[in-house]
Amino acid sequence: MALLDGHRAVVTGGGSGIGAETCRRMAAEGAQVAVLDVNAEHADAVAKEIDGLSYTVDVTDFDALSAAMLDASDRMHGLSLLFNNAGGSTLSPIHDYDVSEWRRIVELNLTGVFHGFKAAAPIILASGGGAIVSTASISGTRPAAGEAPYAAAKAAVVALTASAALEYAPTIRVNAVSPGMIRTPLTELLLDQRGIGLEEQQRAKTPLDRIGTPADIADVVVFLCSDLARFVTGQNLVADGGMTLHGSGIDGVLDVVTELLSQR
Ligand SMILES: NC(=O)c1ccc[n+]([C@@H]2O[C@H](COP(=O)([O-])OP(=O)(O)OC[C@H]3O[C@@H](n4cnc5c(N)ncnc54)[C@H](O)[C@@H]3O)[C@@H](O)[C@H]2O)c1
Repeated sequence: MALLDGHRAVVTGGGSGIGAETCRRMAAEGAQVAVLDVNAEHADAVAKEIDGLSYTVDVTDFDALSAAMLDASDRMHGLSLLFNNAGGSTLSPIHDYDVSEWRRIVELNLTGVFHGFKAAAPIILASGGGAIVSTASISGTRPAAGEAPYAAAKAAVVALTASAALEYAPTIRVNAVSPGMIRTPLTELLLDQRGIGLEEQQRAKTPLDRIGTPADIADVVVFLCSDLARFVTGQNLVADGGMTLHGSGIDGVLDVVTELLSQR
């Protein structure tokens, strides 16, 4: 028997990186998966690979997200899993952030996750229960310079996870995963920049001696969604190869980006 047999999942940000790999892992473990992303082409491609459903939705638009969850639930005959994963950021000193950019990052990384809970929890309860996992970050547990709105939003996702775990117990288990430095389209632009040595710097700070892969996080999400984690709720599982044992994850990256921009 596979780990997620009989489960019906929605994955936000499922068109790329960690979300896409989690869609594949969930499907391989027997779940039906609805891939939800603001990028239609990417959502369609992942859904096609895994014979899943595809929704083009911006998680900051509650009505659209809610309509997609209801439709997915109708078509999959209920919903038991949500992976609240869409997110991303820019880097800047605090006083240089435009107010609109601050709001955009908090809306995407925090309000988008709240929208996920609000839309999916009633459906999961009505379907008999399940699990919700949200993507936080080591930026929330050990923030670095240059990522204030993102770090604040990701720390808040951990607090939201704890509140939700209490509200939805015992029917829905609620946890967060905090990835360290993972090679995805979000990070590879920086990791692959020649001459700045970011990959080496990040690897040197990681006791397990490598940059993470989307599969490293997808496996943790599948674990948290599965019955193997049946006594785990309200937790933030840090999967960073041990990086934050040494302090902040992306410390120094703002300096690298500032230097890079000044050369253009
Ligand atoms: N890659 C890392 O090192 C790392 C580390 C810690 C946390 N994270 C978090 O992991 C999650 C996934 O990141 P990733 O590295 O796979 O990035 P990614 O850019 O590869 O994937 C993110 C996906 O989210 C989608 N998305 C963005 N805004 C959206 C919106 N408003 N509505 C719906 N979908 C939207 C994008 O189109 C993309 O497909 C994010 O929450 C990110 O903050 C990543």
